[in-house]
Amino acid sequence: MTRHSPPPAAPASETDPELLSEWDRDHQLHPWAAMDAWRETDNMLVDQARGIHIWDHEGKRFIDGPGGMWCVQIGYGRKRMAQAISDQVMRLTYTSPWTTTTEPSALLARKIAELAPGDLNNVFFTTGGSTAVDTALRTVQFLNNRLGRPDKKMVIAREKGYHGSTYLASSVTGKERDKNRFDVETRLVHFLPDVNPYHRPAGTSIEAWCDAKVADLEAAITELGPENVGAFIAEPILCSGGVIVPPEGYHRRTLEICRRHDILYISDEVVTAFGRLGHWFASEEVFGIVPDIITCAKGLTSGYLPLGACIISDRIMERMTGPDQNVLFSNGYTYSAHPVCCAAALTNIEIMEDERILEHVREVTPHFQARLQALRRFPVVGDVRGMGLLGCIEGRPEEDGGNLEAQRRLGAMLDEECEKLGLLVRPLINMAVFSPPLIITRAQIDQMYDILEEALQRVTDRQSA
Ligand SMILES: Cc1ncc(COP(=O)(O)O)c(C=O)c1O
Repeated sequence: MTRHSPPPAAPASETDPELLSEWDRDHQLHPWAAMDAWRETDNMLVDQARGIHIWDHEGKRFIDGPGGMWCVQIGYGRKRMAQAISDQVMRLTYTSPWTTTTEPSALLARKIAELAPGDLNNVFFTTGGSTAVDTALRTVQFLNNRLGRPDKKMVIAREKGYHGSTYLASSVTGKERDKNRFDVETRLVHFLPDVNPYHRPAGTSIEAWCDAKVADLEAAITELGPENVGAFIAEPILCSGGVIVPPEGYHRRTLEICRRHDILYISDEVVTAFGRLGHWFASEEVFGIVPDIITCAKGLTSGYLPLGACIISDRIMERMTGPDQNVLFSNGYTYSAHPVCCAAALTNIEIMEDERILEHVREVTPHFQARLQALRRFPVVGDVRGMGLLGCIEGRPEEDGGNLEAQRRLGAMLDEECEKLGLLVRPLINMAVFSPPLIITRAQIDQMYDILEEALQRVTDRQSA
């Protein structure tokens, strides 16, 4: 294996990596930990990262296919970010968002309002994506209580959608396996069936599939009664569900239906905002819609610090405010509008502007997507799909019915082969998704796909062995 030393960084840890792994196993409960293997599985011990690469503790280098968790837009190890964060820490680390405000949060709110579509001019800062979604859903409840429509609270969401891990955000998440032993609020939510064009019945055109998916929403509203439906929540692309791109026209038509019934349209742009598709926000510039609420997080700070935002339209704000006394928007977090996180977000946006990163994404996207499409030639591949710098490979389920175990094995094999070859991907059952840092060059895109091709060849050989 060729070793690629990371550039000099902060002093290396003096603790034995074996010990770190042991303490991690013994004391740290990770998100989505597999409980049957509790205390037996070792997560990769990541040591350093620069640009699009990360290094493990043994000095092995990997291309970071998932870009952290779809978030490290500007790449790792940026001195300008370190400086901005450090400067803000020394100037003002914290102040209560209840009673005070700060320069970074005011500047960032104004900047987001400028970048967001239409009249989405009102920013509520949160601690991440789940709390942004939670805030959006609580806003729907607040609005309808305020308007004297306490029944208009149901949320229509979609199968395979992922919206986070708070009680409300997980309740509108349509990935069954993500809530297999947790309780969720089922009375408030109605799920629409899969929108994935890959799973449409044989002989159905994309146009007919789009009609059917739009009809699913209409039918749900009719069944529940529009007077009981407060919101429709949708990721422009269902990312954690496997980078599912709904058919052309779907977003616009579903928004029109929502408007007709005074149902708020929440566009969950936690992944798609801040450049992933080559635009600050995808809702309007890519899909032609101006929603009522947009949620974002991740790329807002490129993962340097945690921050999310729930952006609310003027139209909704006007309906929520009024002369009656003692009505408080009692939603918020100690770390809402954290000045250091806001300073990080401002610098992240400045870097994206100065380096024309959105333009770069638009430039390299055709090559990225063309190389993705070329992976169809492998017999283990059932579908590939993507948009911008988002990609997914879905395996062909095994002939023997494609049970969950067999599908998982396929995803795990691809993950394993990629890792051996120096590429991290994110396995999702029988899928692998990737969303590399947006600064990835054309040559690095080729390196990434060369590894994927080699890994798919190895999986094909293993399958047929
Ligand atoms: C579309 C979407 N919404 C919400 C979330 C939750 O964000 P967080 O993990 O920052 O709470 C995610 C996380 O992956 C997401 O992909």
